[in-house]
Amino acid sequence: MQQKPIGVFDSGYGGLTVLKEIVDQLPEYDYLYLGDNARAPYGPRSFDTVYQYTLECVDWFFKQGCELVILACNTASAKALRNIQQKDLPGIDPFKRVLGVIRPSTEIIGTYSATGHLGILGTQGTVLSNSYPIEIHKFFPGMEVFQEACPMWVPLVENGAANEPGADYFVQKHLNQLMQQSSTIDTILLACTHYPLLMDKIKQFAPAGLTIVSQGEIVAKSLVEYLAKHPAMAEQCSKNAVIRFCTTDSAADFDAHASQFFGQPVISQHVDLQG
Ligand code: DGL
Repeated sequence: MQQKPIGVFDSGYGGLTVLKEIVDQLPEYDYLYLGDNARAPYGPRSFDTVYQYTLECVDWFFKQGCELVILACNTASAKALRNIQQKDLPGIDPFKRVLGVIRPSTEIIGTYSATGHLGILGTQGTVLSNSYPIEIHKFFPGMEVFQEACPMWVPLVENGAANEPGADYFVQKHLNQLMQQSSTIDTILLACTHYPLLMDKIKQFAPAGLTIVSQGEIVAKSLVEYLAKHPAMAEQCSKNAVIRFCTTDSAADFDAHASQFFGQPVISQHVDLQG
């Protein structure tokens, strides 16, 4: 019988922070992770480029047998998901599904805030897309949403410098710029799957009492609910508790960095998206 793992996608390593939480909550499923490391970061790229890259990766997942793919990347969710869901999927296979990380996060994030002032930290692409304020206002119309793009944070994390003193400057700079927009922000959403790796420094430099929310657990819970509501999809996805890791760049490099995101050793293979 053909294996039908749940696909989990990110431009690089960040989606592993989401996969980790998903595997914790749904350990029985098979998973196929793809990091498009050869073309990361996606954050500074144009709408068209992120859309084209993400679609190529989604096609690759489908060729591997996935029925369900999670875009565990905010930039791809912000810039490519809607087009893929509305324009591409009906022509590719109307029964396959691609889900993102923005909807599950925006459905719930307003409940964390008492002041009604929320901060969003993300890549330039995510912030410029305005996806977070637009989606949050659908669920929490009175919420004031303040955003700050942190273009250096992904390179710091991808280069293994998240805990080094050099990261302090950029973490402080963007937290200060966010808090200058509203001093009553009481909740910050890390709207980039790489940023949980900077959590220690973010907590060190954020004003005391602020709630810092990362997405992994939220996305995992939402997938549990999705599969409960869609038993036909849950039935189709294979369940042997096997996780396969793939990267479009060097497997040796991926393995050297991935464990700090996934929390345990990772052995990956290089893949060619056209192959
Ligand atoms: N991890 C991706 C996100 O959640 C961004 C990384 C990148 O810029 O490629 O937005």
